[in-house]
Amino acid sequence: MSKNTTFGSKFGLIAATVGSAVGLGNVWRFPSLAQENGGGAFLLVYICCIFILGIPVMLAEFSLGRAGGSDAVGSFKNLTPNKKWWIAGCFGLLASYLILMFYMVVAGWTVEYLWGSISGSLYEGISSQAVTDGTFFTGKMQEMILSNNAPLLWTFVMIVINLVILLKGVKKGIEKISNILMPLLFLILLIFCAVSLSLPNASEGLKFFLMPDFSKITTDVIVAALGQAFFSLSLGMGILVTYSSYFPKDTKMVRTSITITILDFSVSVLMGFIIFPAVVSFGINGSESVAGMTLVFVTLPEIFSQMAGTQLWSVLFFLLLSVAALTSTISISEVAIAFAHDRFNISRKKACYIVLLPMFVFSTVCSLSLCGYDMLQVAGMPLFDALDKFTSNMILPVSAFLICIYVGWVLPKNFLKNELTNNGTFRSLATPVVLFLIKFICPVLVALIFFGNFT
Ligand code: PHE
Repeated sequence: MSKNTTFGSKFGLIAATVGSAVGLGNVWRFPSLAQENGGGAFLLVYICCIFILGIPVMLAEFSLGRAGGSDAVGSFKNLTPNKKWWIAGCFGLLASYLILMFYMVVAGWTVEYLWGSISGSLYEGISSQAVTDGTFFTGKMQEMILSNNAPLLWTFVMIVINLVILLKGVKKGIEKISNILMPLLFLILLIFCAVSLSLPNASEGLKFFLMPDFSKITTDVIVAALGQAFFSLSLGMGILVTYSSYFPKDTKMVRTSITITILDFSVSVLMGFIIFPAVVSFGINGSESVAGMTLVFVTLPEIFSQMAGTQLWSVLFFLLLSVAALTSTISISEVAIAFAHDRFNISRKKACYIVLLPMFVFSTVCSLSLCGYDMLQVAGMPLFDALDKFTSNMILPVSAFLICIYVGWVLPKNFLKNELTNNGTFRSLATPVVLFLIKFICPVLVALIFFGNFT
């Protein structure tokens, strides 16, 4: 049972949890949102959001998971055995499994591009005219991502890598791999930062990213920043509840949550330091060039192709992206694995297979839905996008809302205080502030995300 498993070291605990939080949300969602929503102004609002919403909800999930000592659903059952609150945990479980279906596909693209960079096929047949026109890498993206077979192979590779790591368990699998991959990720980020900041005109790009233009702050910007804080810190997905059930009892949770949040935030900011100077310096204009998929699969390869050492930079970047995606898929798979293992009393090995083998089918369907098959369209969009919208806009906010109500209002008054102070073994000035935010402010903010997505 997972309740007997704990992370082996503080470093491992932080590395694994940061690994879950750092994902494509930091690498491509954050820079494109910052670009769309007024650069520095967005950054400022975002910082407020992580303090007011991110850290308190993270602490609510940590308290729930460590005290409950079980998976995302079982933790509710253990804390309030005779009540139906475990249903709240089902939202996180459901969201995580649905997210896994399409996130595994995206993770596959990252290794596909990594391989394309290593083998050189990503830059094969390049002509400077096609790069200038913006057609070359758009064509490559069409070939590599939006075609029937190529991406599937790489999605399968990613599923197998996940399976191999998860079968080894929490300490020897998740923790060990995070201990290696997370320092590697930060190292690559710092190398890119140094390169980008030394480009000509780098300061122009930085200025846009860092100087707040307060007239740009609107309700839409606030909702976007709240949503990003929420997604980036992996709230409401059951991941933090599951991982914190592996926290030792003496973990100082406030300190841990602040460390994790700062590390996650610094990855997003470092990405801004990389993207904005590079885009300005290479004269790439237009907000579309920084938008989501285009940024990583078209704009950045375009920039690499104009730099000396194209292949080296390309390999390093897609390695960074693959690492970010892999540690996220591991954490999101673990939610369902811990659930199957704990609830149905089956071995961890069996649980890994039960969770991941169906992904060969589900992720294939998601991937194919992007290739224009009519029967794979839902509500006028590919199943892939529909799942993304349905989970991010609807299930995740509901899940987090219920967690706030549960921890703030349903559990005994002293629950959060006891968890944050490890049963009174030290004082924590943050406790009353966190409790206030969880009870009164966070539910409102989460509701804002929910309703903001419909207007
Ligand atoms: N925090 C992750 C990110 O920024 C979100 C996520 C985690 C998504 C795990 C899927 C799986 O990308």
